[in-house]
Amino acid sequence: MKAVLCKSLDGPDALEICELPAAAPGEGEVAIHVAAVSLNFFDTLVLYGKYQNRPELPFSPGGEVAGTVASIGPGVQGLSAGQRVLAYTGGNGCREQVLVPAGAVISLPDGVSDEAAAAIPIAYGTALHGLEDRGRLKPGETVLILGATGGAGLAAVEVARRLGAKVVAAGTSDEKLKICEERGAHQLLNLTNIDVKEAVRSLNGGNGPDIIFDCIGGPYAEPALRGMDWGGRYLVVGFAAGEIPKIALNLVMLKACELIGVFWGRHVKRDPAVFADQMARLLDWCAKGEIRPHIDHVFPLEQTAEAIRMIERRQIKGKVIVKP
Ligand SMILES: NC(=O)c1ccc[n+]([C@@H]2O[C@H](COP(=O)([O-])OP(=O)(O)OC[C@H]3O[C@@H](n4cnc5c(N)ncnc54)[C@H](OP(=O)(O)O)[C@@H]3O)[C@@H](O)[C@H]2O)c1
Repeated sequence: MKAVLCKSLDGPDALEICELPAAAPGEGEVAIHVAAVSLNFFDTLVLYGKYQNRPELPFSPGGEVAGTVASIGPGVQGLSAGQRVLAYTGGNGCREQVLVPAGAVISLPDGVSDEAAAAIPIAYGTALHGLEDRGRLKPGETVLILGATGGAGLAAVEVARRLGAKVVAAGTSDEKLKICEERGAHQLLNLTNIDVKEAVRSLNGGNGPDIIFDCIGGPYAEPALRGMDWGGRYLVVGFAAGEIPKIALNLVMLKACELIGVFWGRHVKRDPAVFADQMARLLDWCAKGEIRPHIDHVFPLEQTAEAIRMIERRQIKGKVIVKP
């Protein structure tokens, strides 16, 4: 089978297309014939060894896939060859076949395409876990999403809207922010050349947002926190702007606010039943058209490096998919 391999930590330019033996599932494992792999921001970091997880070389990028069951190992129940499935693999997705523990495999409903299914686990899982479990979002609350045009951010726009929030989508490009309006954002905020604290404070009738879902960190985090409502909840999701901000704790005291970490991958690894429940809800919403993952670009396996470069260059709205 064909696989895109990272053999040295030199970024997407060093990726190679290689031939590997077909995947043979062991006890409790499932081999999936991959139809679509979704790429994420972390795929750009992991290829330089700059991500919190450093997989052993060689590895393939791509942490979530959709496709059909190719074969099942001993002890696997409830799955059969040919069945449409999605899986959260954490990596090694950009291959014609992947091996996955049966607990990470979810059956797909008819109304959800391979591309949409592959785009759901990480981005939408993080949005749902962040807003609902960690942020305790209540209908009618105002949510500000920083980095709303990206995969996790645009998912948060749709999920927050689905959960009944007033949604403010923030980004750095008016053109890219239009997609957030199409996906249900009530208000758009371009963060370029503005006083971020004052702009954030002016939201929600001048009180500031109840919840901030922050995918970018960098220079935006502190002014956004300063503009948040009394008792607000600040969800620390990611640092796509590069710098990990250091926040003075007196700000948290003065606002009586909460700084809350969100780590979806660790959350679902700790309890596969949580993952299954979350995916069942999200796939149901997707089949009903209540969430619609925006697939900006689709690339063949041979162009995986270009797909990753587009994420690096900030040229993607929503998600980019590779199809082996
Ligand atoms: N904690 C978790 O469980 C979890 C789960 C998923 C993702 N994440 C993290 O969340 C972040 C986003 O991931 P993703 O996959 O959604 O990435 P993505 O699709 O590449 O989106 C990145 C977003 O960040 C914005 N951005 C990038 N560089 C920026 C800069 N210098 N200044 C301002 N905005 C910038 C982009 O907006 P514009 O280019 O339009 O300005 C875009 O909206 C990453 O740090 C990722 O590791 C965390």
